[in-house]
Amino acid sequence: MGFRVLELFSGIGGMHYAFKYAQLDGNIVAAMDVNTVANAVYNFALNCHVKTRNIQSLSEKEVSKLGATVLLMSPPCQPHTRQGLQRDTEDKRSDALTHLCTLIPQCETLQYILMENVKGFECSQARNQFVEALEKAGFYWREFILTPTQFNVPNTRYRYYCIARKTEDFAFAGGKIWEEMPESPSTEQSVSQISAILEENVSCEYLVPDDVLTKRVLVMDIIHPTENRSMCFTKGYTHYTEGTGSAFTPFSKEESHRIFELVKEIDNNNHDTSSSYEDVRQRRLDLLRQLKLRYFTPREVARLMSFPEEFAFPPETTNRQKYRLLGNSINVKVVGELIKLLIATKQ
Ligand SMILES: C[S@@+](CC[C@H](N)C(=O)[O-])C[C@H]1O[C@@H](n2cnc3c(N)ncnc32)[C@H](O)[C@@H]1O
Repeated sequence: MGFRVLELFSGIGGMHYAFKYAQLDGNIVAAMDVNTVANAVYNFALNCHVKTRNIQSLSEKEVSKLGATVLLMSPPCQPHTRQGLQRDTEDKRSDALTHLCTLIPQCETLQYILMENVKGFECSQARNQFVEALEKAGFYWREFILTPTQFNVPNTRYRYYCIARKTEDFAFAGGKIWEEMPESPSTEQSVSQISAILEENVSCEYLVPDDVLTKRVLVMDIIHPTENRSMCFTKGYTHYTEGTGSAFTPFSKEESHRIFELVKEIDNNNHDTSSSYEDVRQRRLDLLRQLKLRYFTPREVARLMSFPEEFAFPPETTNRQKYRLLGNSINVKVVGELIKLLIATKQ
């Protein structure tokens, strides 16, 4: 019989795609999330019905009735993010995970669990509570902090993962947080270049607007086509400039360096009284426009998060919603590889 997967905090279905990636026999028997916009995307992309449901009301009876053997989940990370108040289990958004910690030892059908959260979760009270629940239920468990760049994906997204199973202990040691895959393949493939994930003929709506170019360009993380990195995309991408994700220029590093040197010259001569403030501002802006700096499109961000090409948003989803949902999601390849590791048996 195939695996019967329960996907909680399902968002846009990152875990569903990761399960498909792992190519195991089985299917998602239920997916649940409170966010109706995310659920509409899930239904559209995966053509199946997500329950709009508060996980705090999930019961042991329901899990048993579903016959769920695998639990995949990425609970809210806001109680643990560095930018937030870090109220941990005191934060109301932790309540659903706290509820699950009570539920897990009662759910006898569950054999495998994978949980994802932000880096920093490993030091939280919520993590201790979760691990206690796993121990009480008789699971073997291992913890990781991994990033897609370790899987040849040109995107940095350090995340905490815990995999747990009842069937047998893992072949690699516990008692530490793994910062690489314990059974990583020996082939030393290099990380792909950013050019591999670019869309063609990107609309000018993605160009970085003039006011951002004027005021914020110096804090932007700018990526060139031959680079093999990009920064973590968060839900605030394009709305806030700093620390929410990278921007792209089609020019080489050398060419953009040349342009920035000219901008610097203007900035250093800004007391030159022979030209008006407006002239200087315009000259600076004209130079910056030469960079053709643009945001990565939602499709490109989805590719950097290893979503397959068949993934699509319903036509009514706005770009702001797309970036928010992607920023909250997971890297499909990293989780897919961890699912394989979770379910692998000793040869
Ligand atoms: C980190 S995101 C999960 C993203 C998801 N794995 C994906 O691929 O998009 C957390 C999700 O939990 C949902 N959520 C938060 N609290 C919830 C609750 N009490 N019940 C159900 N869903 C909840 C949010 O709406 C959000 O979609």
